Amino acid sequence: VRRFVVIGHTQRTDEIPLNDPAGAGRWDVLARSVAAAFLLSNGIRKDAEVDLVLQAPPRPRTLRLEGAKLRSLNPDERAILGLLSKALSVETVGDHWAQASAGIAVSRRDLSRILAEHAREGPVVLLHEEAPLLESKDAARPIAGGTFVLSDHQEFTPGDREAIQAHESHRFSLGPMSLHASNCIAIVNNWLDRL
Ligand SMILES: C[S@@+](CC[C@H](N)C(=O)[O-])C[C@H]1O[C@@H](n2cnc3c(N)ncnc32)[C@H](O)[C@@H]1O
Repeated sequence: VRRFVVIGHTQRTDEIPLNDPAGAGRWDVLARSVAAAFLLSNGIRKDAEVDLVLQAPPRPRTLRLEGAKLRSLNPDERAILGLLSKALSVETVGDHWAQASAGIAVSRRDLSRILAEHAREGPVVLLHEEAPLLESKDAARPIAGGTFVLSDHQEFTPGDREAIQAHESHRFSLGPMSLHASNCIAIVNNWLDRL
């Protein structure tokens, strides 16, 4: 399984503005990241998972999407946000996962907890434009079953960096330019597909 952890800094979980996802908190960034992680031209990647770690107050949540269990996913951003919005309306108890729909669960687990769990299963890879360039299949092979950590439209906060550094095993850049998170996910999928 390849996992993508996308940290959302500004997307409030109490209301997803389906009519203005870009204007209110940049939910569009997350919808495109989900599409890039899972969607093939005629199917869903079963071996991909996405955690959206939504940190904005007043109600931080983590949404988990699992390709092996997702029934359908539409490339339309509004449709994706509709699914996420429905999942966020599900009540969570303590830090348990609450199943919202097929392949989508929600919990109160924070970045540190999420990364600690993933680090037990494989490498945790920070993606950042200023990291060493990923430039060979030999470098990509060890991170093939890894967890790739990205930020939304904002830079990682000091708190994010602290949580990531505690679990990170690798860090890579995908090129010299600062790219959208969704494009980074597409590039990682392509690297791993070619191994
Ligand atoms: C739009 S960028 C974040 C904003 C940007 N760091 C800034 O100047 O504020 C979204 C995320 O995608 C990842 N990213 C962007 N460009 C990258 C690159 N060239 N290589 C690896 N990761 C990249 C990083 O995780 C980054 O935080």
